Amino acid sequence: MVELVLIGIGTGNLEHLTLQALREMRECDLILLPRKGDDKAALAEVRQELCAQHLESETGISEFDMPVRDASVSPYKKRVDDWHEAIAKCWLDAIGSQAGEVSKVGLLVWGDPSLYDSTLRIAEKLPESLQVKVRVVAGITSLQCLTAAHAITLNTIGEPVLITTGRQLRDNGFPASADTIAVMLDGECSFQTLDPAGIEIWWGAYVGMPEQVLLSGALSEVGPEIVSLRTAARKQHGWIMDIYVLRRST
Ligand SMILES: C[S@@+](CC[C@H](N)C(=O)[O-])C[C@H]1O[C@@H](n2cnc3c(N)ncnc32)[C@H](O)[C@@H]1O
Repeated sequence: MVELVLIGIGTGNLEHLTLQALREMRECDLILLPRKGDDKAALAEVRQELCAQHLESETGISEFDMPVRDASVSPYKKRVDDWHEAIAKCWLDAIGSQAGEVSKVGLLVWGDPSLYDSTLRIAEKLPESLQVKVRVVAGITSLQCLTAAHAITLNTIGEPVLITTGRQLRDNGFPASADTIAVMLDGECSFQTLDPAGIEIWWGAYVGMPEQVLLSGALSEVGPEIVSLRTAARKQHGWIMDIYVLRRST
């Protein structure tokens, strides 16, 4: 039986690690560390730095190359499913190579494993013969970091919030049922597809990290500014992750 602990590490600030996450990391026999492509080297570096700062030499670290999604596979769901299988195989190889020696394996998950993250789905693909028991340690999400950075509440009084993606916003617009939406995984500043009248935006990139940049205001005014700031920041750092909240003004 192997215990697989998915440890939320926050979104790039080394101080996001909770005391619980720290203890769980230290109790692991083995930590699996994905190597990202060059454009996301900063993300891999955060995980490496956390291990360097907090782990003793007896904790094993196994780095693996993240498999690449095969763009020729369709439909999209099968492409993602195949990719998840390939990642599960990497985990299995790393755990299997130390069979009998590891009982607690840790994965350091960006933000929290519950929010736009596939780690739990990949864990389901591990073979039953491994007898894996999965546990989750909560982490600080990018959405929490964004609302904290702007010092705003996510919801208005008694109202729901919809968390969605850039693609959904482009395809379906601002849902009529929500007055507040949070948008993630948006590489295209999809708010540009909306009629900006009466919408406010709170935007952030690299939230929680030293590179953090924030902008907020009426979408009609700050929208174009966000687009050019995002382009410049991406050029400067070689990568970007951004997130925003949109709210209909009352
Ligand atoms: C694959 S999802 C992972 C989300 C993560 N599990 C969480 O709890 O925040 C990646 C998306 O999260 C958002 N994100 C993650 N880290 C971020 C950061 N430091 N700054 C801004 N957005 C971030 C971006 O919208 C990015 O496209």
